[in-house]
Amino acid sequence: MEKLIITGPTPLKGEVHINGAKNAAVAILPATLLFNGICTIDNLPNISDVKISCTILEQLGAKITWNKPNEITIDTRNITTTQAPLDLTSKFRASYYIIGAMLGRMGEIEVGMPGGCKLGARPIDQHIKGFELLGASVSLEKGTIHAKGKHLKGNNIYMDVVSVGATINVMLAAVLAEGTTVIDNAAKEPHIVDVANFLNTMGADIRGAGTDVIKINGVKKLEGNINYSVVPDQIEAGTFMLAAVATRGDLLIKNCITKHLDSVTAKILEIGGNVEDHGDSIRVWCKKRPTKANIKTLPHPGFPTDLQPQMGVVLSLADGTSIINESIWESRFQYTEELNKMGAKITAQGKTAVFEGVPKLYGAPVYSSDLRAGAALIIAGTAANGTTEVYNLEHIDRGYENIEEKFRSIGAKIERVKE
Ligand code: EPU
Repeated sequence: MEKLIITGPTPLKGEVHINGAKNAAVAILPATLLFNGICTIDNLPNISDVKISCTILEQLGAKITWNKPNEITIDTRNITTTQAPLDLTSKFRASYYIIGAMLGRMGEIEVGMPGGCKLGARPIDQHIKGFELLGASVSLEKGTIHAKGKHLKGNNIYMDVVSVGATINVMLAAVLAEGTTVIDNAAKEPHIVDVANFLNTMGADIRGAGTDVIKINGVKKLEGNINYSVVPDQIEAGTFMLAAVATRGDLLIKNCITKHLDSVTAKILEIGGNVEDHGDSIRVWCKKRPTKANIKTLPHPGFPTDLQPQMGVVLSLADGTSIINESIWESRFQYTEELNKMGAKITAQGKTAVFEGVPKLYGAPVYSSDLRAGAALIIAGTAANGTTEVYNLEHIDRGYENIEEKFRSIGAKIERVKE
């Protein structure tokens, strides 16, 4: 078992480079299945979720070559099977994108029930509703999803909840369907726009991504030879912005799209931090103790749930009492118990947590319950007095490339050791 040992407190200072977005990459990789050709994708984060996605594609018949640590070439001209590896697909969440893509490509697919971070109930009813409205039949049996629909037809699909996954999945299934599909109440996250841009680069006809209504005019085929670069990871950038504030440091965060971070910037300014926006990089620094604030997580452009735990670390150290209302996931406050072991005073009940700010956190052994909780604990360990040991690193490695090297390069005293 591996763990991170962090000795603090250290104000993080210097420059950090942001990788491509995990949640765009894990959708773009399955999207290549709609394509009959060769595509080269760069700015791909080198993380375990991406590696698993690649293995699944290979087992479906794709040929993948890693040209560099962040660039691959995928040849999807010979997709041979409609049976995805059940063990791998049930290991992570985004495997559900194989369904939309393979419905488009082969008209049929069998995958394992998607896994991923345990954040509470994670239904996929809106994905299924969308596929069925396009004419597919979907059955769930013994942990397996079987979707079938040889001749999908465009339709109007109203999403009952704003869902990133369902929006992308229906978009994938609709690209090669006959006629026009309209997705109403669509999610608007930057990775939705990125996946639509990728599909359009391959020859799809998608309009309106990034708004509530996405229109997909079905095309007959996607083929050729394309190059694409994944959008920078808004959540990784936000993680370092909040790390700068929590540790009272000064970071220049490079290779990000600052417009995607407006909700985070606004909160950092509200609590007394400083932000300098350069468009494709952002400097964040904080010299004094942050003040309290209330946060409600919301779909984009609201404050992202995927930055809620990192913000929780900042508010646990703020002057005054703050409240966070988590409106997306019912179990995203598991990290607060770990922060309390470090001296925080947080009371979490249901989807609300009250943070009574303390002046200092103290090192302790802590366990990451999911990906973003893990990032939050690394920030907490860097801000805290003494030694923190962070366990369950497999969650963190799913979504952050070289996290300890990045933290070390900006001053953190952090090492990964095998027990
Ligand atoms: N929902 C339904 N029915 C559905 C789909 C979703 O009720 O069919 C509900 C969910 O239960 C949740 C809300 O709708 O309450 C939003 O869920 P969404 O579908 O948007 O989440 P997701 O696609 O499963 C993605 C990210 C998550 C991120 C959420 C919200 C990927 C692979 N995962 O999940 O990322 O928290 O959107 O932005 O894109 C992370 O990166 O740490 C992470 C968990």
